[in-house]
Amino acid sequence: MSSLDLFTDEFLQAARETHTYRTLRHITTPEAAHVKIDGTETLLLASNSYLDLANIGELKQAMAQAVLDWGTGSGGARLTTGNKTPHQELEEFIAKFKGEESAITFNTGYMANVGTISALCGKNDFIFSDELNHASIIDGIRLSRAKCFVYKHNDIADLERVIKEAAATLDARPFRGLIVTDAVFSMDGDLANLPELLRIAKENDCLLMIDEAHATGVVGKTGRGLAEHYGCAHADVTVGTLSKAVAAEGGFVAGRQQLIDFLRNKARSFIFTTAMAPAVAAAACNNLRYIGSHPERVRQLQDNVKFFCEALQREGLDVQPSPSAIVPIVVGDEARALQVSATLQERGILIPAIRYPTVARGQARLRASLMATHTQEELQTAATAISQIIKSID
Ligand SMILES: Cc1ncc(COP(=O)(O)O)c(C=O)c1O
Repeated sequence: MSSLDLFTDEFLQAARETHTYRTLRHITTPEAAHVKIDGTETLLLASNSYLDLANIGELKQAMAQAVLDWGTGSGGARLTTGNKTPHQELEEFIAKFKGEESAITFNTGYMANVGTISALCGKNDFIFSDELNHASIIDGIRLSRAKCFVYKHNDIADLERVIKEAAATLDARPFRGLIVTDAVFSMDGDLANLPELLRIAKENDCLLMIDEAHATGVVGKTGRGLAEHYGCAHADVTVGTLSKAVAAEGGFVAGRQQLIDFLRNKARSFIFTTAMAPAVAAAACNNLRYIGSHPERVRQLQDNVKFFCEALQREGLDVQPSPSAIVPIVVGDEARALQVSATLQERGILIPAIRYPTVARGQARLRASLMATHTQEELQTAATAISQIIKSID
């Protein structure tokens, strides 16, 4: 065996033994509430396409037209030849949608987080990070080489404690700190406490950055995100993705003009990569406009989440009301979570089991995510099936 074979074999063996070995699921129809998996009609309770926009005729037509107008690729980085009219229009619309002065787009939300954090912070700075933050935030922190203090999930008192701890390590140097958090936590579906975070940031002269990947199009009366939900001010830096509720691809940062000018000049994941295809930018912009003019779709999603959580509770499951589109049903043991998910799939319902390392060991769960187009009948059927299967393998 070569050293490569040995090294990879050891890793894969360990993954199999701990039930964390990953394989791809092959879906043969477009993303929608119903898909075909290996030829079997399946109810999808697993998508990030929360508003179910990926397969709407008029939005597909608009993207197809953008391909005809702008071709298949951008041909260059944004700062060379890649910047086309759809990129400009998208950034202007994001700023308007989020109620900010300006916005910048990246090719993915992952790249937005990595590029923004590593542009804002360097090795002399402090970052205060929620323990359940997304991997792209963690990778951005690592790349920045800043000193990172992790605080307990959504625990404001613990955040204050780590800020004090950081300040105590200072000599004469001025304090520069960034508080960073998911807006909606991707595996738990709960919200960051934006009003309290704003207060702590102000009191301690820190910057505040929130990642609205799962909040955009979902949280707040019209899907504008956390500031709309709480009726409070915006964070200094708002990151988001165009790949979930917006059903296209790309990431963004919205904020003050000077912040955006700074990122355009400093964020390496913006500068050293080819611009997204103009048709993708056009699709993201069209879809975002559609969300802006269809607030009833956001309301329908929120009504579905409420109905589903109540249905699960009626079935005797320990589930909290969710303020987002993500409903975690914690099962605990990795193998058991896999078994529940597999049995559900045999019954034509897809809810993936989420396991270590995505969540902590022993915290394996079914991660249900809802769409605006699920019917109450479908949600009730799913809730009953989940409860029956969990009870049958207890
Ligand atoms: C909280 C969070 N931030 C960022 C991302 C990355 O976004 P994208 O898929 O656009 O790279 C994800 C998920 O993919 C996420 O869940």
